[in-house]
Amino acid sequence: MKAIIYRENGGPDVLQRVDRDLPAPGPGEVRVRVAVSGVNPTDWQARSGAAPPKQFSEVTPHLDGAGVIDAIGEGVDPSRVGQRVWLFMAAAGRPTGTAAELTVVPAERAVPLPDEASFDVGASLGVPALTAQRALTVAEDGPRRLRPGALDGRVVLAAGGAGAVGHAVIQLARWAGATVISTISGPEKARLATAAGAHHVINYREGDPAAEIRKVAPGGVDIIAEVALGANLRAAIRLLLPMRLRARGARGGRRPRPRRSARGRGVACAAAARAGGLPAGSSAMSTPSGGCSVTSGGTGMFAYANRSSGDAVATRGWSTGESAKNEVSS
Ligand SMILES: NC(=O)c1ccc[n+]([C@@H]2O[C@H](COP(=O)([O-])OP(=O)(O)OC[C@H]3O[C@@H](n4cnc5c(N)ncnc54)[C@H](OP(=O)(O)O)[C@@H]3O)[C@@H](O)[C@H]2O)c1
Repeated sequence: MKAIIYRENGGPDVLQRVDRDLPAPGPGEVRVRVAVSGVNPTDWQARSGAAPPKQFSEVTPHLDGAGVIDAIGEGVDPSRVGQRVWLFMAAAGRPTGTAAELTVVPAERAVPLPDEASFDVGASLGVPALTAQRALTVAEDGPRRLRPGALDGRVVLAAGGAGAVGHAVIQLARWAGATVISTISGPEKARLATAAGAHHVINYREGDPAAEIRKVAPGGVDIIAEVALGANLRAAIRLLLPMRLRARGARGGRRPRPRRSARGRGVACAAAARAGGLPAGSSAMSTPSGGCSVTSGGTGMFAYANRSSGDAVATRGWSTGESAKNEVSS
């Protein structure tokens, strides 16, 4: 079969097209004939060497994709052969992602794709949709699962609604009943965010976007799914209703200064940002105690909490597990 691989980190020129043997599915795995391979920031960041560190001597990239199951391993329902599926996290913890004619994944990472959904749609779900789902359900007082009505009465701010994660946030939040505000950078992006279901679109590059958001949500917003945390954290803190910050992190952007707030909302989130920046794919959430928990599943997790004053908390804990947690109080 044809596969795309890289052996060294670097720019797109490290990618090579090669022939490889057909992979065989092991116990609990399925083999999928890939129709469409999805590309995420994580994929090119991993290839470039930014993060996470390369684990294998040869890597076929791409976490997400869509296709048809053509073989199954021991213990998998035989009726799944021929099933249309969308894939997520295909290359997580293994050297072979979806940039190949066939790929093998754990059966649970191949999700049935309805006939009316194209492979293009299937390949664009994956990690962005899971990230959006996580951002909308991670709150202590939020729904654990999304369904129609789960976010009734809530106001969701979907940053970057024309991007992969923002687009998924808009669709899921609207479906779940929220009023959805989205930030965009121009008319074409506004059209995309509106088509996804945003009730209000606001250009973040013009005027005072926070003031525009306040006009729609005078009391503040319930949930922010943020894709440019470094650039927007200070505004996010001002816009949030107390104790409801969930944000998807990204490197880059101006790093915010720490804020002190008598109401204790988001204080430690700002301190966390100052102390070390936030990694791509992290999420931040204010806690009932007025602290902030920052997590990043898969590649590690770190958490900060400041239970009272807003003094910077400067402890960072990394682990490679998904469930490890290091929460610090000042
Ligand atoms: N894709 C994933 O699976 C995934 C998973 C977890 C975390 N993340 C992280 O989430 C972030 C977004 O990923 P993505 O896949 O959605 O990327 P993307 O498709 O490239 O979209 C990025 C979006 O961010 C918007 N943006 C940039 N600067 C902004 C600002 N200052 N304020 C508001 N919006 C801003 C852009 O808007 P304009 O184009 O209109 O400027 C664009 O819509 C990345 O940092 C990524 O590492 C992604």
